[in-house]
Formats: sequence, C-alpha cells, structure tokens
Amino acid sequence: MREQELKSQIKLDKLPQHIAVIMDGNGRWAKQQGKPRVFGHRNGVESVRQVTEACAELGVPYLTLYAFSTENWGRPRTEVDALMSLLVETIKQEIETLNKNNIRLQAIGDLKALPPSTCEALQFGIDNTANNDRMTLVLALNYSARWEITQAARTLARQVHSGALEPEAIDEQVFAGALTTAGMPDPELLIRTSGELRISNFLLWQLAYTELYFTKVFWPEFRKKHLYEAILDFQRRERRFGKISEQISQ
Ligand code: FPP
Repeated sequence: MREQELKSQIKLDKLPQHIAVIMDGNGRWAKQQGKPRVFGHRNGVESVRQVTEACAELGVPYLTLYAFSTENWGRPRTEVDALMSLLVETIKQEIETLNKNNIRLQAIGDLKALPPSTCEALQFGIDNTANNDRMTLVLALNYSARWEITQAARTLARQVHSGALEPEAIDEQVFAGALTTAGMPDPELLIRTSGELRISNFLLWQLAYTELYFTKVFWPEFRKKHLYEAILDFQRRERRFGKISEQISQ
C-alpha cells in the first residue's frame, strides 16, 4: 500500500505515546551492496530523519532510538570511530531542523564515558533544543539496560545509606525515577529492524508491557511507510495489561 494511504488509516487518537526503535541491519545492508559497513551507518541517518519527521507529523510525543550500545565498543576500532564521528556530524547538522520542527533532543546512557567530542556535540544539541515541546527525540548512546538498572540500584542504595530514603519507600515509581528515562512514559511500541528477534539489553525495565514489532527491513531501507505499517499493526492489537478482554472493552 502507498505511504499516504497507510498514513490515512492511522487513528490519531490511538497513537503510541512513545515509540522505541532498535535500528539494526546497517552492516548487512551495506554488505549486500558490496560496500563497507560504515556505508550502512551513513545511509541509516536518512532513516533516522524519516522516522523522526513521521513521528513529529503524526504527533507521537516520544521517540527513542538505540544508536550505540555498551556492547558496541567491542566492534573494530575503525567502525566505532566512524560511528562516533557520524553521530557528532549528524547532531551538529540536524540541530537547525530539530528547532524548526520544535523537537527536543535528549539522551540516555552512560554519556560521561563517550569520547569528549561526542559528549560535547550531544550536550550542545540537548541545550539548544531544550525549550522545544512538540516531540522529544531520545538517543540511547552507550546505553545498556543492565547498566541502567544497576546504576539506579546504586543511587537508591546511596540514598538509603545516607538516611534520605527508607528501604520500604522504594516502590516501582521510586525505582523508575532513578532510571535514565525518569519522567518519560514507557514505550508502547518497540520496533526492531533486520529480522533479529531480540531485545539486546534495551530498556528492560521500561518494556514490561510494550508491544513488540519485528520487521525484516534493514534499517537503511526503513522509510515512513514502514513506520506507518508498524503503528497500524500496533493499533490492531488488544492491549490487556494482564486483564481479560471484557474488562478492557468496558
Ligand atoms: C545497527 O546496525 C546500527 C548501529 C549500531 C548504529 C546506528 C547508527 C546510525 C543509524 C547512525 C546515526 C544515528 C543517529 C541517531 C544520528 P548493525 O551495524 O548492527 O548492522 P548488522 O547487524 O547488519 O551488522
């Protein structure tokens, strides 16, 4: 079906309030074309643009993109360096467009451990888009969910140790408040491209009730119409949150 036709079928009053994406398949896509892996990452930037624009146009308030995992440091040095440069370049280039479209940039992950140039570009982007309120684009960088949960536990333990917090006061809300996603709604829809059927240490706490959508499309080929297909699939599902069907339709 054509892009516009798909878009017109989306129920705007039933949009996911937060979409998270595991952008996967850049390397395999490049290999298919006989090109180096970095070619895939470069082309993946256009997909980032398309998905961000499509979410903003529809009115999705939060979009989180898994751009670099803690495990990605294990890739060849040249690829890691190229990814970091691409991030710096893209953030710098896109700030104007983000501001024009009233989009706020945020980041989650162990940002302090990123190379200084990446950290600086990121902070510049965050600071210069801080007053935008149409949509929040969250980049997960040097992110891993187990790292996030561990550091949240450490933060709360310190507060208990200092007497500022009673152990009994720690409930799901307090715990969620110590995560890097504090203040953001949990994702309602997770999309993973490239046919892999895994969560890969992404938002393990936040994905508890998230609808999962897997597509074989490689990330550099992911376009607005693919996002519309994922949202339409989401809207066809019945979300029960552990209850029964009759309770939901009431
Ligand atoms: C996964 O494909 C992709 C990444 C690890 C990086 C994603 C980065 C970008 C799209 C570039 C810029 C992003 C932003 C937000 C500006 P892969 O390399 O794991 O592919 P493979 O599984 O086929 O090897």
